Amino acid sequence: MTALCALEAIADGGALAVEGADAPLVLVRRGEEVWAYRNRCPHFSVPLDYRPGEFSTYRGQVLMCAHHSALFRFEDGHCIEGPCAGSRLEAVPVRVLERRVMLL
Ligand code: FES
Repeated sequence: MTALCALEAIADGGALAVEGADAPLVLVRRGEEVWAYRNRCPHFSVPLDYRPGEFSTYRGQVLMCAHHSALFRFEDGHCIEGPCAGSRLEAVPVRVLERRVMLL
């Protein structure tokens, strides 16, 4: 397992860009839970952030793509609204151990 960051490095309800083993990732956090996805929108295969590391999230529930505002659920990366509704982000397995986010 590889440590990606401290849990506190991700704002509660927010998102953080990190470098994964072989691709850029986005981590999203709600309380003590963290999910990781490849930072690539299934709509046009482009990064989800506005500028590097600048993501838009809403109420600790969804991550919004910067380009055409697709909304992805934190917990499963499912697109609930937008041009790629029904698709999903590519999940990457992580676990929080001793308040650190570990890549499995
Ligand atoms: S590229 Fe993400 S919604 Fe279009």
